[in-house]
Amino acid sequence: MHRPHPIEHPMYLRDHFAELTRQLKNYASFWRPFPFHEPRPPWTEAHPDLVRQLLALPDADLHRLATIPEELTAFLTPHLPFASDLAQLCQLPQFTQQAVPLISPRLLAGIPGRKWQQIEAFVAALPPAPMPILEWCAGKSHLGFVLQHCSGQPVTALEWNAALVGQANARAQQWRCDLHSHTMNVLTPEVDAFIHPDQRIVALHACGDLHVKLLQLAARKGVQQVQLAPCCYQKTADAQYQPLSQTARQQPLPLSKQELHLAVTETVTAGEYQQRQRLRLQAMRLGFDCLQRDVRGQDEFLPVPSLPGEWARTDFKTFCEHCAQLKSLTLPDQVNWAHYEQRGQQRLREVSALDLVRFLFRRPLEIWLALDRALFLQEQGYQVEIGTFCRRSATPRNILIVAARCKP
Ligand SMILES: C[S@@+](CC[C@H](N)C(=O)[O-])C[C@H]1O[C@@H](n2cnc3c(N)ncnc32)[C@H](O)[C@@H]1O
Repeated sequence: MHRPHPIEHPMYLRDHFAELTRQLKNYASFWRPFPFHEPRPPWTEAHPDLVRQLLALPDADLHRLATIPEELTAFLTPHLPFASDLAQLCQLPQFTQQAVPLISPRLLAGIPGRKWQQIEAFVAALPPAPMPILEWCAGKSHLGFVLQHCSGQPVTALEWNAALVGQANARAQQWRCDLHSHTMNVLTPEVDAFIHPDQRIVALHACGDLHVKLLQLAARKGVQQVQLAPCCYQKTADAQYQPLSQTARQQPLPLSKQELHLAVTETVTAGEYQQRQRLRLQAMRLGFDCLQRDVRGQDEFLPVPSLPGEWARTDFKTFCEHCAQLKSLTLPDQVNWAHYEQRGQQRLREVSALDLVRFLFRRPLEIWLALDRALFLQEQGYQVEIGTFCRRSATPRNILIVAARCKP
């Protein structure tokens, strides 16, 4: 059997989901408050030793614990025994990898290394299906190319960025590949014309509303096969999470966009420059937060809209003046800028330390969201499997949902 073990059993998904819901609800006080907004979340009062240890961690340890889930669990379990239960609930089976036929390196030219690792593993995890393929939110349609090559089936790709569509079609012509990409906003009704029952729809890293639309359309039109690696659950027009499955609606877990974002904050792809830029922006935002609390005489967070990365290159005073303007806040003539800038840096260290507790819940939330999608498909008459398709180092968004419509 090439599929992962008991995962296809309908009860397994529901039981797993119910247990995750229970744990996420039980320990919500550890993951709902954002140390970025609340310097000392309420859980810190009951765990002074843990707070002391977290705040004393050197930068290198902070980074290691933030990026290696197993080490984070080992570090936190003596203080928070539920950490190891959560880790257990994060065990997903791996899809067995079939051999992918050899592909000429010339055909692969232009596919970045990590993207190739993801695509190779995605393709290797799919069951064979002799039917046309629709690639959803395809980008340059790298996945479609490889699938066309491996299966011989025609591929239709949908993507709203016309430049990417043009590149995919030019490459298809060059290689005489039976692939046709179309410029299409998949959230518009025109997309319906592309969906047929005798089809396999694949989506690698389609964000929030985009993959939700895919699941709803596929279920409505009775598409035979759906294979989805979801990502960016927070990219949705809804202010609050709208569960897809009946099961999730019956045991609601309210989730704001910010909380949805927690599920996908683990990354391995950001370059060093972007990391530094992000940290500098965060330190300046936290410095501004300290300043606005003093100026307003109110010890509460004031949300400031997110600013483009270039703001990381500006000086702290200009940054704060801009934020103050955005929030119609009048700053005093005399501000000790160096003091607030330094406080921002100190707050950033504290946030990085206290956030580690929230990070325990990233993967459980991500799996909960993926299970909601899997359960939706199951309720719509699909046989569903869920597991990981590649190593975390290729992408932490490595959950794959494989669904086949049950015969009537
Ligand atoms: C995260 S990328 C994934 C691309 C590709 N599947 C891959 O793995 O390389 C998401 C893609 O969705 C496309 N996209 C975003 N909104 C869209 C929409 N409304 N309709 C169609 N495509 C969209 C983006 O342009 C982007 O190429």
